[in-house]
Amino acid sequence: MKIDITAIKAAEKHLGELLTTQLERVERLKDAEDWLDFQNLRPLRIGIIGGDGIGPYISLEAQRVLEHILADELESGKIIFQFIEGLTIENRAAVGKAIPDDILREIKKCPILLKGPTTTPRKGDPWPNIESANVAMRKELDLFANVRPVRVPELDIDWTFFRENTEGAYVLGSEGIKVTDDLTIDFKVITRPGAERIIRLAFEYAAENNISRVTAVTKANVIKTTDGLFLDTFERIAKEYPNIEADDWYIDIMTAKLLDPNRRTQFKVFVLPNLYGDILTDEAAQLQGGVGTAGSANIGRRYAMFEAIHGSAPRMVKEGRAKYADPFSMIRAGAMLLNRIGYGDRGRNLEMALDICGQLEKRIAITGRPGGATAREITDYLLETLADPNLEGNWRQHQS
Ligand code: IPM
Ligand code: MG
Repeated sequence: MKIDITAIKAAEKHLGELLTTQLERVERLKDAEDWLDFQNLRPLRIGIIGGDGIGPYISLEAQRVLEHILADELESGKIIFQFIEGLTIENRAAVGKAIPDDILREIKKCPILLKGPTTTPRKGDPWPNIESANVAMRKELDLFANVRPVRVPELDIDWTFFRENTEGAYVLGSEGIKVTDDLTIDFKVITRPGAERIIRLAFEYAAENNISRVTAVTKANVIKTTDGLFLDTFERIAKEYPNIEADDWYIDIMTAKLLDPNRRTQFKVFVLPNLYGDILTDEAAQLQGGVGTAGSANIGRRYAMFEAIHGSAPRMVKEGRAKYADPFSMIRAGAMLLNRIGYGDRGRNLEMALDICGQLEKRIAITGRPGGATAREITDYLLETLADPNLEGNWRQHQS
C-alpha cells in the first residue's frame, strides 16, 4: 500500500489555514456590531442589482413596483435608488471573482439591496468555476439570516423559514480539498455564535408575531458534530422562550412532512442550517406555485439584501422566454424590503395584491412561456390590483 505523504501534508496545511480563518471569524462573531437602524437612515440608499439571465427582466418589474410605492420618498430624496450595473457572469468571469472589487465597493455603499438572480457556474459551463455571487455577498455583508416566507392560504400553510446563511456546507464550499485524484473532502462548519444568532432571530420573530411553535431541522443523528451543536444550541435557546413550543425534526422526514396535509399546517417557523434551508425552501415554494413565486430576505446587522429564491434561469433565456419570467419572486422580495425599512403597511398591501394576482384571483396566466403573460403584463395586473381602494376587502373575500 502506498500512501501519498506529500498529498497529506498539503491537505493538512490547507486545513490549518481554514481553521485559522474560521477561528478568526468566530471571534468577529462574538464581537458583533450593533444593528443598523435601517428605518431611520437618511437618505436611505437602496442598491438595485439587475443580475443576469432573467434577472434584469424581473428586477426591472420589481423596481417599477417600488418606484410606484415609494414615489413620494424618491421624489423628496428621503430614499435614493442606486443602480449597480455589471454584476454579470461575463464580468465576474473576466476578473475571476464572485464579485468584482469595484462592484463590491458600490454594493457596500448601500445598506439595503434588491438583487436579481446571478448565474452560478457549474462544472461543464464555459465559465471558470468561481463562487456564487449570492454566497459571496452573504458572506461579505455577513447576511446571516435568510428569511423565506411561504404562504398558501387555501391550504392553510403559513411558514417562515430562517435558513442560516453564512455557515454550514456553504462557507467552505469552494475550499474543499482534492487530496489525491481518488480522495476529495468538503467541509461543513457550524459555530456556536453562528448557530445562536440565527436561532435567536427565529425565536424573536415567533415571539413578536405571537407564533407558538419554532421547529429546528437538522440531521443530527448522522452529522453528529456540526448538526449536533446546532441542535444543542436550539434546545438551550428554546428554554428562554417557555411560551413557545420547540420541536426538532430530521431533514429527511421533514421533506416528507411538508407534503403531509395533516401535519404540515402545524408548522410555523423553521430554523435550519444552510443547505437544508436551501433544499427545503425550494420544496416549500413549489407548494406555493413554484420558486418563481417566492422572495427572500438576507438579513445582517449592517446590511439587508432582498432577492428571489431561484437562480438566473439561463435555459429560459436560451429558449427566448426571458420576458415571460414570473416577476413575483422579486416583487415579493420587494415587499419584504418595504417591511424592513419601516413601510410595513405598504409591504402588507403589496403582499395582498401578490396573493390575489398569483394565487387567489389569477386573472391572467403566468406560464413562463409564450401564450402566458409577460413579466410586464403580470406587473401591470399587480399594479392595477394594488390601486384598488378595496384591496383588503378583495383579499378577504377570496379567503373565504
Ligand atoms: C438560493 C440559491 C443559491 C443557494 C445558489 C444560486 C448558490 O439556490 O438562494 O437558494 O444555494 O443558496
Ligand atoms: Mg436554493
